[in-house]
Amino acid sequence: MIRQKIVAGNWKMNGSKESINALVNGLLEMKGSNSEVVIAPSFPYLSLVNELVAASDFSLAAQNVSGEVKGAYTGEVSASMLGDFDVKYVLLGHSERRTLYNETDDVVAAKVATALNAELAPILCIGETLEEREANQTFSVCERQIQAVISKVGIEAFAKIVIAYEPIWAIGTGLSASAEQAQEVHQSIRAFLAKSSEVVSQKVQILYGGSVKASTSKALFEMPDVDGALVGGASLDAKEFIAIVKAAG
Ligand code: 13P
Repeated sequence: MIRQKIVAGNWKMNGSKESINALVNGLLEMKGSNSEVVIAPSFPYLSLVNELVAASDFSLAAQNVSGEVKGAYTGEVSASMLGDFDVKYVLLGHSERRTLYNETDDVVAAKVATALNAELAPILCIGETLEEREANQTFSVCERQIQAVISKVGIEAFAKIVIAYEPIWAIGTGLSASAEQAQEVHQSIRAFLAKSSEVVSQKVQILYGGSVKASTSKALFEMPDVDGALVGGASLDAKEFIAIVKAAG
């Protein structure tokens, strides 16, 4: 099955009004692409970026969402609020949220359910630590993280979910997984989904994330089960990000 590639930029907690204006203007130089380009600014800039990219094909993602629908949850942002700013995707289960903000598999699953109810498409991030990889637990960790979501929303919901495999040891370290390492895990993720639904497993786009650069992206994108990338640091540089989008075709 042909799956459209997605190249998503996770800007994390970076940027200012000025730098974001410059970055988006740089990104708008991009020529048409067969891939879907997604950018994920911090909450305060969603409205600004939404206006700046209005005439482009870029899609907007948020970096988090509340698992609650509305009410007395000071400091939280609801899925329907994101919908008001044309946000299409939301990153969920990023390792920085799991480790620094104690988001458990169950919390992530609840957020996936809330996002789907508001018609936001989750980009579900999963991945193992270095210790877990060295203990041969890569597949079991990824499966546990996915199973928590299947148990909450069912396998059919994965037709609307994008998975991002982000090994924690590769995030922000400059040490990307090799294309073969990424392919091995992506293939096992798809095989795991296929146990519940072969059809859904073939549809799901599985992105790789972790120190993706233009120079390494081509080999990653050539792998049959790598359907794009979730890019951190390199997405803050318009030229580098455009080169990654180009490599995706
Ligand atoms: P880096 O590309 O900076 O390693 O970050 C990856 C990431 O966490 C994307 O969500």
